[in-house]
Amino acid sequence: MKIFLDTANLGEIREAARWGILSGVTTNPTLIAREEGAGFEETIRAIAEMVDGPISAETVSQDADGMVAEGVEYAAWHPNVIVKVPSTLAGIEAVSRLARRGIRCNVTLVFNPNQALLAALAGAFVVSPFIGRLEDISHDGMELIREIAAVFELDPDIETRILSASIRHPRHIVESALAGAHIATCPFGVLRQCMRHPLTDSGNAAFLADWRARQESDPPDQDE
Ligand code: G3P
Repeated sequence: MKIFLDTANLGEIREAARWGILSGVTTNPTLIAREEGAGFEETIRAIAEMVDGPISAETVSQDADGMVAEGVEYAAWHPNVIVKVPSTLAGIEAVSRLARRGIRCNVTLVFNPNQALLAALAGAFVVSPFIGRLEDISHDGMELIREIAAVFELDPDIETRILSASIRHPRHIVESALAGAHIATCPFGVLRQCMRHPLTDSGNAAFLADWRARQESDPPDQDE
């Protein structure tokens, strides 16, 4: 399981990149719009400088011609840029056309296994099932990942990776891995939360207290 960061915030990406565990970054128009200042191209280029892995940049056209034009432009910004398109018929056509030009695509907003299958057959590099949004409406996000993984497994020609998206909490990461996802793209807060445990905190505090108590009780060295 690889970990991507799901944000367009350069400060978050800079900090998470320092941890040494990031394999890529995903953005979407909402995340880009949330950040003030930098433009879209500038933001994607800056992310690509910080993280050496796939960087998803999403198209906003609703027709295949527009998506292809946007995708060709984005792909020229950096070799690691992945063109993100919605899971629609226009999106599938755009993926087929972009894939023929050697441009990698992330098919997003996947909510059923057939959308993932058609995306894979079109040549998508990754598909993004949205786990949290499915669970928001009482559907089983992990079952979707399991079904996509099982369908992909049946066809040895399918190399498309499953990227679990709309991750809401740390359990979603491990459950996605166990369900067959290859990648989880996580908000910054969820990644930080992964490393938090009260027993880690209390154990760490106890180790430190014991060490300091022993140092304070030790007699000073003779030669001091
Ligand atoms: O990667 C997809 C993600 O950005 C959507 O997450 O939290 O808006 O459902 P969310």
